[in-house]
Amino acid sequence: MTQSLHLRRPDDMHLHLRDGAMLQGILPESARHFARAIIMPNLVPPVVTARDAAAYHDRILAALPEGADFQPLMTLYLTEETDPADVAAAQASGLVKAVKLYPAGATTNSNSGVRDFDKVRAVLEEMAEIGLPLCVHGEVTDPAIDIFDREAVFIDRVLDPIRRATPGLRVVMEHITTTEGVAYVRSAGGDLGATITTHHLVINRNHMLVGGIRPHYYCLPVAKRERHRLALRDAATSGEAGFFLGTDSAPHPDPLKENACGCAGCFTATNTMPILAHVFEEEKALDRLEAFTSLNGAGFYRLPPSETRLTLTKGAPVPCPAKIDTGAGPVTVFDPGFALCWSVSH
Ligand code: DOR
Ligand code: ZN
Repeated sequence: MTQSLHLRRPDDMHLHLRDGAMLQGILPESARHFARAIIMPNLVPPVVTARDAAAYHDRILAALPEGADFQPLMTLYLTEETDPADVAAAQASGLVKAVKLYPAGATTNSNSGVRDFDKVRAVLEEMAEIGLPLCVHGEVTDPAIDIFDREAVFIDRVLDPIRRATPGLRVVMEHITTTEGVAYVRSAGGDLGATITTHHLVINRNHMLVGGIRPHYYCLPVAKRERHRLALRDAATSGEAGFFLGTDSAPHPDPLKENACGCAGCFTATNTMPILAHVFEEEKALDRLEAFTSLNGAGFYRLPPSETRLTLTKGAPVPCPAKIDTGAGPVTVFDPGFALCWSVSH
């Protein structure tokens, strides 16, 4: 029996598109299925000002394949020098939908991020005032804190104090990976949301480390224990408005992943929708897939849901490319470890 699902086209509320040849090579993978995406600003150098964001927006539009229907929603990279007036101007331009907080040193290209959170107080207050969301990479960088505990400690030491000190600030905890992250979002009101990635619904830390180290499963925040993966599945498939898709699809050329010091990031743009259909079917929650991919994120960002639709059809296993060839080198596509039986059409 053929099974079909008709969804509003999904939004990817956390996406790395990079720049130059990599952007050119991987943008079609997102534009094919997604209506919109929140574009991460961690380029080298980062997208810091309203002017930087407008220029990057132009480069993305120029790289879009002919006829593509895809809208990049831009973000600014928060630094200790960010000017509240520039943030307000960026929002007023209509292009910028959020500001991204990277604790300095937490992840790829985060060195220009925040060391002293007091130095960004004025910007956060302005954002609370104008209703511009803060997207947070929620991991502490204290070397004394075990990498598997960094998200939970961040909530207690950094995020909760920031939210208490800045009433009205709307925050997205990006790529949550723990039961603590899920519980914190559930305990808060509508001012706090969370993105959940495709890969964290599929892999736990054993998939990455047992039987040999699998660099293409290494990302940040790193995958945790199985009980955390199950909590993420429960949250994603719950239909609750605070949880929505942000793939964190993060391409790196293979030589930089298969390396003695490999980069963090899973490239999931290509096969996210078939993987999510598989996961939601396993959880008997196909009727809540659209909320996760196409409604809740738009709701949080106060955008109308997309008008166009996408169809997912279940049938015989469909091939997915193992790699995408880009002008910046080959990029391995995330392998979920199961056959993909859902295919996408428009
Ligand atoms: O795995 C990740 N890759 N996590 C991040 O936070 C950054 C991203 C990247 O830019 O490669
Ligand atoms: Zn990311």
